[in-house]
Amino acid sequence: MKKIAIFASGGGSNAESIINYFKGHSSIDVSLIVSNKEKAFVLKRAKKHNIPSVYISNKDFKSGELVLEKLIEHDIEYIILAGFLLLIPRTLTQKFPNRILNIHPALLPNYGGKGMYGQHVHQAVFNNFEKESGMTIHLVNEKYDEGKILFQVKVDLKVTDTPDVIAAKVLKLEHKHYPEVINDYLKSQS
Ligand code: GAR
Repeated sequence: MKKIAIFASGGGSNAESIINYFKGHSSIDVSLIVSNKEKAFVLKRAKKHNIPSVYISNKDFKSGELVLEKLIEHDIEYIILAGFLLLIPRTLTQKFPNRILNIHPALLPNYGGKGMYGQHVHQAVFNNFEKESGMTIHLVNEKYDEGKILFQVKVDLKVTDTPDVIAAKVLKLEHKHYPEVINDYLKSQS
């Protein structure tokens, strides 16, 4: 069984879609939820699904040691970022080479980098009158949003689409594709 940990900073709707997808899966198990926000709704979702969870402060997260301890304790092999807003420390990128995946709510390399997350991304796409947006799933390295791209999908935008409408269109794509891409990627790894 390949054990995965999901890291999330907020609501965790992607985390929940991943949890639901892998329920009863023959070879992949969501074994831990990690959040850097004590009150993040994703921790409530973890409880609802009886999945162990841990809150790690931003300060502890930066050193990477405590989180690594927790990952080892739960035999985690892959880390799935789902709306996780901190930079992943080198301690983790080195211990988990090609084993950390992230989802980004735009078509990287556009609209990526530090400070480009969640609603900021959709507002920027809106401000630039983009005719399409989409989402990207990529491997994680020491830089924000720069790891190898594994999967992208586009969605058409209408001139009348507000940032909230753009966000909803992209989130729908994320829920549909992220669990499948995780499944395919993990299966492709020995
Ligand atoms: C998702 O849209 C995800 O792509 C984005 O945060 C949202 C989290 O939603 N991630 C980033 O912007 C990372 N740069 P959720 O908590 O409902 O899954």
